[in-house]
Amino acid sequence: MINEEVNSFSEILEKDSILDAEDHLTLRPRRLSEYIGQDKVVETLNIAIEAALQRKEPLEHILFNGPPGLGKTTLAHIIANEMGTKIITSSGPALEKGGDLMGLLTHMEKGDVFFIDEIHRMPKVVEEFLYPAMEDFAVDFIFDKGVHARTHRYRLEQFTLIGATTRAGLLSSPLRERFGITRDLDFYMEKDLIRIVKRSASILSIIIDDEGAYEISRRARGTPRVANRLLKRVRDFAQVRANGDITRNVAMDALELEGIDESGLGETDRKLLQAIIWNYKGGPVGIEALAATLQLEADVLIEVVEPYLLKTGFIIRTSQGRKASERAFSHLNIPYQNKPDTPGLF
Ligand code: ADE
Repeated sequence: MINEEVNSFSEILEKDSILDAEDHLTLRPRRLSEYIGQDKVVETLNIAIEAALQRKEPLEHILFNGPPGLGKTTLAHIIANEMGTKIITSSGPALEKGGDLMGLLTHMEKGDVFFIDEIHRMPKVVEEFLYPAMEDFAVDFIFDKGVHARTHRYRLEQFTLIGATTRAGLLSSPLRERFGITRDLDFYMEKDLIRIVKRSASILSIIIDDEGAYEISRRARGTPRVANRLLKRVRDFAQVRANGDITRNVAMDALELEGIDESGLGETDRKLLQAIIWNYKGGPVGIEALAATLQLEADVLIEVVEPYLLKTGFIIRTSQGRKASERAFSHLNIPYQNKPDTPGLF
């Protein structure tokens, strides 16, 4: 329940939605049939969308969980497109008060998609306001205070909430339980990233051979957003240092210049592994200590940097903290048996 001022519509809408329209929309698939990878998730969505369209009902609320850049926002846009409805986007941090949400929800039409990115960062007061909206399609508004307080229940149109999170574990269980469909997005397989790179190259009129596409894909941290970013860097390199076409050698040289190594690790990844090995004797080390050493936010380490390093086995998570694996030692050419005991490389 709320009794706060309602912010203006445009204030609450995410800046991101404007950037998306300008920057990524050309590369982003618009239909589920164009979407590459995440086969199980796509199949679930295909069935849910077709069933809802047949029944002429809005889709159930959907939660996507997974590291950044794997397609959570793209899927939300595709879902709205397939359902033939509008999408209104916001994010957890942008929704500061119940009133912010109220302004958006009361403008929603039947079947519209309300996308909340980083939903785990939504303040508790806003979250509680969302419960009746999700469950009963109603919000309760309080007028006045104390003995004069009166509530008014606003009816909402049946909308579909799509939440995206990199930290599903931080969501309260009442919120989590209100989603009808919850799916984890995983890092992409190399074969899927190769298809994505080739598709993007074709949209951008870039000539790339199979080996060039492979070289970019295998260094893209299993992430389409990274693959597309690297493709653009390699395109620049190819244009200025070669004849414009992307071959294996051009891709390798360009990516080396970007500081992306053979395993797809960048500067931050290597610094993290070096910090565990040199400063903490290979670990285990707590995430907060590691973040302080690297002068990064712990949340950035947890949500952005370490998921791929955990997935690929460069680091191991234990109850005492993170450890560098044997693979990390060998990647950095440090003998595993002789763990260094001289801290202070940083
Ligand atoms: N571009 C970015 N991600 C994509 C995906 N999963 N499928 C097709 N194109 C993409």
